[in-house]
Amino acid sequence: MRIGVLGTGGMAEALGGAWAAAGHRVLVGGRDRERAARTAALIGAEHGSLAQAARHGEAVLVAVPAAAAPQLVSELAGEIVGRAVVDCTNPLMPTAEGLMLDTGDTGSVALQLATAAPGAYVVKAFNLCHVSIWTLRPPTFENVPLAVPFCADHPTAVAVTATLISSIGCTPAPCGGLARAAYLEATAALAIGLWWEGRQPRAAFPSPAEAPPS
Ligand SMILES: NC(=O)c1ccc[n+]([C@@H]2O[C@H](COP(=O)([O-])OP(=O)(O)OC[C@H]3O[C@@H](n4cnc5c(N)ncnc54)[C@H](OP(=O)(O)O)[C@@H]3O)[C@@H](O)[C@H]2O)c1
Repeated sequence: MRIGVLGTGGMAEALGGAWAAAGHRVLVGGRDRERAARTAALIGAEHGSLAQAARHGEAVLVAVPAAAAPQLVSELAGEIVGRAVVDCTNPLMPTAEGLMLDTGDTGSVALQLATAAPGAYVVKAFNLCHVSIWTLRPPTFENVPLAVPFCADHPTAVAVTATLISSIGCTPAPCGGLARAAYLEATAALAIGLWWEGRQPRAAFPSPAEAPPS
């Protein structure tokens, strides 16, 4: 698959690298062309401008800060019509009460992106795990492949995302439509808060096999 990556930082390198290693054709696009070239060289990808990455991808990963994503996606709206636009952003704001969501009354960043580019097929995915997890080949824990929850409305976004997930050795976990993306963003706020406190979010989700029969 052709994958365009918007951004040249940690997530661009980790996820772009995982996809390139899986045999996808990745193009890293950045506002700083030298940084795009550096990141691309590290992971065996092509590089270019943000617009070139948007045009390149059947899937386009948005790997920029959450606060910058809607404006960027709006500027690229004409390039990403009919493409799966994968939003991995986390709109998190540290407060005295812990991590809070910084989405106001918009619902989620994913919904903001869908509004910014009405012709694109936005999907929320890959936001729950730290960048280091996406560098594992594959991300498997206690012999179980990592499940990657995602939310999308359009069948193209669902199919493309399932391929992106399974091609790096993870298990696709569809979680409903884009209206539920807010839950993935909120889950990140909770899980990352627990990690920062040295707690174990994994221990909060026992296997369904342990649940009493209903
Ligand atoms: N790091 C993690 O473990 C992790 C995990 C899950 C999700 N995420 C989410 O993934 C996204 C990317 O995180 P990251 O760790 O890769 O960040 P990062 O290393 O700081 O990289 C951010 C990238 O965004 C670019 N950028 C910033 N503002 C921009 C703008 N207005 N227009 C175009 N490009 C812009 C930066 O370009 P310049 O170099 O030119 O500034 C850089 O290439 C964030 O939304 C984050 O919440 C991160």
